[in-house]
Amino acid sequence: MFLLGIETSCDESSAAIVEAGKNILSNVVMSQVKDHAVFHGVVPELASRMHLEAINAVIEEAFCHAGLSYSDIAAVAVVHKPGLVGSLLIGLSTAKAFAYQLGVPLVPVNHIEAHLYAPHLEQDIPFPNIGLAVSGGHTLVYHSKSYTEHSLIGSTIDDAVGEAFDKVAKHFDLGYPGGPIIDGMARDGDFLAYKFPRAKYKDDNPYQFSYSGLKTAVIHQLNKFHAKGHGSAVPDILASFQKAAIDVLLDVAVTAARDHGIQDVVVSGGVSCNSYMRSVFKEHSEITAYFASPKLSTDNGAMVAGLAYHLLKEGITADYSLNAHSKIVKQGRALP
Ligand code: KG4
Ligand code: ZN
Repeated sequence: MFLLGIETSCDESSAAIVEAGKNILSNVVMSQVKDHAVFHGVVPELASRMHLEAINAVIEEAFCHAGLSYSDIAAVAVVHKPGLVGSLLIGLSTAKAFAYQLGVPLVPVNHIEAHLYAPHLEQDIPFPNIGLAVSGGHTLVYHSKSYTEHSLIGSTIDDAVGEAFDKVAKHFDLGYPGGPIIDGMARDGDFLAYKFPRAKYKDDNPYQFSYSGLKTAVIHQLNKFHAKGHGSAVPDILASFQKAAIDVLLDVAVTAARDHGIQDVVVSGGVSCNSYMRSVFKEHSEITAYFASPKLSTDNGAMVAGLAYHLLKEGITADYSLNAHSKIVKQGRALP
């Protein structure tokens, strides 16, 4: 059974064809990153226009790479939340048109659930597990019982971890997106050079944490050094920031795994590409960490088509009144 997955929630237009939730026949991703980089962040109106220009060609290419024709598709899956509404609507309208024309079901997919599914495309991961969705817009911790059942148990209370990377990079004109740039520069730095604050709120929820204090402390430190002309300290500061940002997530993941009597931790979303994160999670003796390959960790259609196979098996489809939502909606089977 072949499913078409469409993803346009932020600044990547993507379409993929996946067989039975696992076998990726094509996964075309057209990134707008360079177009937004001049503005140091995603410009929503520009993103929607670029999705509109790209989406038909991206879908066409997905069929071409897969060597399939439209009539081979059993269902059309689309991300309809959370994300930039204007961007989501481009993917959603296109998906509806395809599903209608082909006479196949439309499968509604949650972007975060799709990220949590990505590592399952390449490996068999047991349930229940602890799921970490770490991206530019979200930093969420889940107790996952199946591909489609996720209970939110913790999150950041302010900035997302990717947002912290992006803001630190922006402050010092390193470029956009900040995550991969800081990851690269931190390799030349000493991550023990600075001890930055690690805000964690243990009182009411041990899986809740904050990034705004860390971001401010790092920017303050960088300002101090720049004022004194010590540019060479920058890699040390970035490496120490990266350690502080990721170690909080490791602590939370290990605590959640221990509390729930679980060994397996699934990590997904753009920040899961981070090389320091991958090594400390993999090396920790108390957990078994699962990551997707980098191409499947950032936004892509394969994770959408993959998860949709399991949603479809559970009878989850949508009619043409399906709408786009910027936030995760607190109703139905949506994540809280
Ligand atoms: O999942 P994603 O592609 O899009 C969203 O749904 O947000 O994640 C993008 C985020 C950006 O904040 C980017 O800076 C971050 O992922 N990122 C990284 C790395 N690669 C991407 N953060 C840290 N280290 C990386 N290597
Ligand atoms: Zn994402």
